[in-house]
Amino acid sequence: MKAVFLCTLLFSTLFAQQAHSAPNPVKGEALFKQCTSCHAIGEGAAHTVGPTLNHVFGRIAGKADGYTIYSDAMRAKGEDEELLWDEKSLYIFLAGPARYIPGTTMGFAGLRKEQELKDLLAYLINFSPAYEPESSTVVSADAIAATTLPVLKADDEEEAPTFDEDYLANAEAITSGGELWAKQCRHCHGNSAYPGKAPKLKPARYKPEFVFNRVTDGFRKMPAWKSVFTLDERKAIVAYVLSRQFSP
Ligand code: HEC
Ligand code: HEC
Repeated sequence: MKAVFLCTLLFSTLFAQQAHSAPNPVKGEALFKQCTSCHAIGEGAAHTVGPTLNHVFGRIAGKADGYTIYSDAMRAKGEDEELLWDEKSLYIFLAGPARYIPGTTMGFAGLRKEQELKDLLAYLINFSPAYEPESSTVVSADAIAATTLPVLKADDEEEAPTFDEDYLANAEAITSGGELWAKQCRHCHGNSAYPGKAPKLKPARYKPEFVFNRVTDGFRKMPAWKSVFTLDERKAIVAYVLSRQFSP
């Protein structure tokens, strides 16, 4: 989750001038369908046509353990030039693989739109939990071993939750929702956020379902968090925002 927060920050600074809207990992997940014929991702993912993209941020190009069919071009990029996959190099590569690495065997033309590249990277970075966003440093095998990967759900059908009074008053939910708020929401919505970044919330006017839907699906420049937070985490955020403890 930290990764996503920092990634959002990174991209909002890096592309501040041209930014259309915040990188949206849910849209990135949909874009990743263009990669799944050749790449697997998530807990338990194996190499297929291409190497698994788990832990690709912070990895030297051409160095996924156990993937033996890299092109000479990709190998040379890693061994001779020590190309490290980070926010910048992945962005350039995915915008035109063969342009960046002539001779690569990755049969993919590239994504044209800046927004799509940002969305895709916002999704991908969740599968490199040991990488410190924007650090551009090689991640060690030990650091990787100490992390867990997101588990992909078979389908993302989700029943709309109900919010009764008991749940909204649940101290545990409010506390954990408050922690998520501090990590993921405050930098846009908080009192100390850059003015104009996001509206000040007005919880007294909201129904729980409204807050839940905004957090789940996003809206215009508000990012969607469905692929980032579990259902319980999103429910806890709602409980916190609507609680008396809420302090932006
Ligand atoms: C038609 C199959 C195919 C598709 C589609 C494809 N890739 Fe690849 N990808 C490969 C192959 C094969 C390689 C190894 C290339 C080489 O060795 O030159 C690769 C390599 C990579 C690498 C470098 C990995 C490393 O370990 O150095 C990244 C990153 C990557 N792909 C990301 C993506 C993403 C993201 C998408 C979707 C937007 C995608 N690929 C679509 C086949 C594919
Ligand atoms: C990258 C900045 C950003 C982050 C991070 C962010 N939001 Fe937002 N949020 C926005 C923007 C911008 C809007 C206004 C969208 C619109 O209506 O055009 C918004 C709208 C909302 C609204 C609707 C407000 C209204 O009165 O219409 C809610 C509720 C909300 N956000 C909650 C959250 C929560 C909870 C989190 C943390 C999980 C969060 N937001 C994280 C930018 C952000």
